[in-house]
Amino acid sequence: MSRTETLTIDELGARGDGVARTGKGLVFVPYTLAGETVTAIADGKRAALLSVRTPSPDRIDPVCTHFETCGGCSLQHMDADAYRRWKVGLLEKALAAQGIDTDCIAAPHFCAPQSRRRAVFSAIRTEKGVLLGFQQASSNHVVDLEECHVITPEIDAARPTIKDLMAVVLPAGRTVHVTVNQTQSGLDLAVEGKITLDDAGKRSAADAVRALGFARLTVNGEIILAPRRPLVAFDDVTVSPPPGAFLQAVPAMETVMAGLVAKHLAKSKRVIDLFAGCGTFALRLAKASTVHAVEGDAAALAALDRGFRENSGKKLKPVTVERRDLVRRPLTAQELKPHDGLVFDPPRAGAEAQCREIAASPVRRVAAVSCNPETLARDLAILIQAGFTLKSVTPVDQFIWTPHLEAVALLERAGGKKRHWSDM
Ligand SMILES: C[S@@+](CC[C@H](N)C(=O)[O-])C[C@H]1O[C@@H](n2cnc3c(N)ncnc32)[C@H](O)[C@@H]1O
Repeated sequence: MSRTETLTIDELGARGDGVARTGKGLVFVPYTLAGETVTAIADGKRAALLSVRTPSPDRIDPVCTHFETCGGCSLQHMDADAYRRWKVGLLEKALAAQGIDTDCIAAPHFCAPQSRRRAVFSAIRTEKGVLLGFQQASSNHVVDLEECHVITPEIDAARPTIKDLMAVVLPAGRTVHVTVNQTQSGLDLAVEGKITLDDAGKRSAADAVRALGFARLTVNGEIILAPRRPLVAFDDVTVSPPPGAFLQAVPAMETVMAGLVAKHLAKSKRVIDLFAGCGTFALRLAKASTVHAVEGDAAALAALDRGFRENSGKKLKPVTVERRDLVRRPLTAQELKPHDGLVFDPPRAGAEAQCREIAASPVRRVAAVSCNPETLARDLAILIQAGFTLKSVTPVDQFIWTPHLEAVALLERAGGKKRHWSDM
């Protein structure tokens, strides 16, 4: 049963919600800050903010009118310095929880507003027209955006035309996800959801893509029209990503991460890139080293391979590719043996099984890229126990105003006998 309560916020939790310690346990109150006294409607462990009675000195006005409605951002009400301290604190807490010295945390990098070149919108066609935006927090309701300060101005400016296209593609009442990747050739749109287009529908959609100037439209994996081949550049190496491809969220932050990885692995002659995607790291590293790129997604791997072949004039060292499920079948210590440098960049769940094999292998230099400080810390602990020294962990905030944080950790160890994780 819900009731109105006055709560004092003790701290911000890992998801960005204020946490109040009450006699009945923890209560999480979104859009609050540590030290604030607030009135909220509590329902079990969750509470909805009604008003802030004593605001924190760190409280500021949010930049976006959709804040507190749209589920995209959760921390716009926090002063920039406090926000930055809190973000780095997420990494500090995660490392400390694994007994890892936080002195290794290097100077953080923060992205600017309006810099995200990849967005996954929800779209629904209603009686009043198409709604396009992000879902409301803890709800399926699509917040029809009138502004967004996270995405690039190019994607923001295209919202009305994306809606025009969705009006052609969507049947009434149906919700889909629309992945928008900003590429050098224009916007690449991939629609996923329970819709089917008949031939007439495909023709109308293709006409709309042409008229509205998009680079490509894909619906549930089928290319409806691609007037221009989408291209992204990894430094001077251009790759055509598959529809809906994973791309690092912010190009400037990708440059920072790739620079850290390349510098760390500069002396490695034979590098292996695990969870390689379309080649964000692999194709840059190939300037100095031979690279073996391993990835589970066939389309991403094919784009990487093709990118290597099409950039033969860029003096790349040989790049080989392997499709493999690295969670079920991680590269074994024996298979890792030919490589003297390694980068891994897994999804949020991390790379625990793979790290156990790296720990038991002779690989000496490792760059770990992660969007989840908790699984990163767990994986680093495995490597540290196996004799690696953690040189640095650099926070790279490419998810502004959210509780998500990217980080790049650099490790190395001297040669010698390696212990297998199972021996410890
Ligand atoms: C965070 S992305 C990184 C991609 C790439 N390193 C980049 O920077 O663009 C994680 C990648 O892991 C891949 N992946 C997810 N699960 C996997 C698995 N079980 N085995 C192999 N690759 C997987 C995804 O397809 C995705 O390309």
